[in-house]
Amino acid sequence: MIDALSARPRFPAAPLGVGLVGAGGIARSAHLPAYRAWGVPVVAVASRRRADAAALAADFGIDTVHDSVAELLADPRVEIVDLATGPTGRVDLIEAAVAAGTHVLAQKPLISHESELPRLLRVLDEARERGIRVAVNQNARWAPAWRLATLLIRDGRIGEVVGVTHLHDKPLPPLAGTPFDDVPHMLLNDYLVHWVDITRCWLEGGRVDAVAASDHRVPRQPADARNPWGADIRIETSTGAGASIRIVGSARTRGGGCPFWIHGTEGTLRGSILLGSDRLQLDGPEGTEDFALEGQWFTDGFAGAMGELQTAIAERREPENSAEHVLASVRTTFAAVRSAELGGVPVHPEDLELTRALQGRNGAA
Ligand SMILES: NC(=O)c1ccc[n+]([C@@H]2O[C@H](COP(=O)([O-])OP(=O)(O)OC[C@H]3O[C@@H](n4cnc5c(N)ncnc54)[C@H](O)[C@@H]3O)[C@@H](O)[C@H]2O)c1
Repeated sequence: MIDALSARPRFPAAPLGVGLVGAGGIARSAHLPAYRAWGVPVVAVASRRRADAAALAADFGIDTVHDSVAELLADPRVEIVDLATGPTGRVDLIEAAVAAGTHVLAQKPLISHESELPRLLRVLDEARERGIRVAVNQNARWAPAWRLATLLIRDGRIGEVVGVTHLHDKPLPPLAGTPFDDVPHMLLNDYLVHWVDITRCWLEGGRVDAVAASDHRVPRQPADARNPWGADIRIETSTGAGASIRIVGSARTRGGGCPFWIHGTEGTLRGSILLGSDRLQLDGPEGTEDFALEGQWFTDGFAGAMGELQTAIAERREPENSAEHVLASVRTTFAAVRSAELGGVPVHPEDLELTRALQGRNGAA
């Protein structure tokens, strides 16, 4: 039976040793607090600046600080490398881990440019041949309301999914003046990665056929906020099911959260995540049920992503958040960005591959 507890992170009886790479904001605020709460053994840390790694190790009781990633990967206690670095150099780090025979959990976005795809695919082929698991830290898949919705959909409780709708009913995080504001189409390219990814999980069974997206500046948006604050993504799939993801701007609201609706042929799931708004209701043929959710995306979701990789390794199967699985979300994101660049026309993810293949043949990739 699926209940609120089914959405909690899962770990094998003897979790594998983790080596953390990157001692920045997300490692400190989410990875390590989640691992501490869920008993994940973090055995070593390395970062670009040794002092950052040493400070993190001291605060979280990690006994070994390595001088380099190579040294960390050579540490026999490191069975999984947890990459808490930014997207630049991500494929290099995954490649080094695979070469060292170490399983990987890589932060999102898995890659941030189409040009990195061919090399990533080669690295993933090698990992598969050698039985090394490469997973992506799509931690929002384990936000309690989103995870439970996923399990209820898989269990057929709303029939076949017809449509997914997300509304971002909360302020945006501070963006102006941060490196994020330098990323072109930042909301589509980076911020909404979790929303695109979970939507695609809920639409599983259909192929993403078309993505139309746009972003726009909103009334009174400060001039120093370079990226538009409003964004819309529309996703169409081969089954006829579709999705809509909307950020109206930096919403001014005392309550708020991120409400979502999943409409199916037999019922509806409605819920919300973030800002303490977490809830999920199943409105099905047998009546309405409100679930008493436990935990929050921050930081239980981070335990969920790591727990799934650890469990998959123990059960000798691919993790749900494998890089291969996440790649379809990455392609959907790339299509959204391309659509916005083209003024909102629908883009077919397969056309992106075609463009890349043609560029490769012409030597321009
Ligand atoms: N919910 C989420 O999943 C979530 C939330 C926030 C950030 N993130 C993602 O986490 C990643 C990191 O974000 P952050 O805010 O912590 O960034 P950050 O810049 O604060 O930290 C990155 C750390 O990695 C280190 N680093 C980078 N490249 C390295 C390399 N090659 N070798 C060793 N160390 C290296 C840096 O020195 C720094 O300590 C980003 O990809 C971001 O998108 C995810």
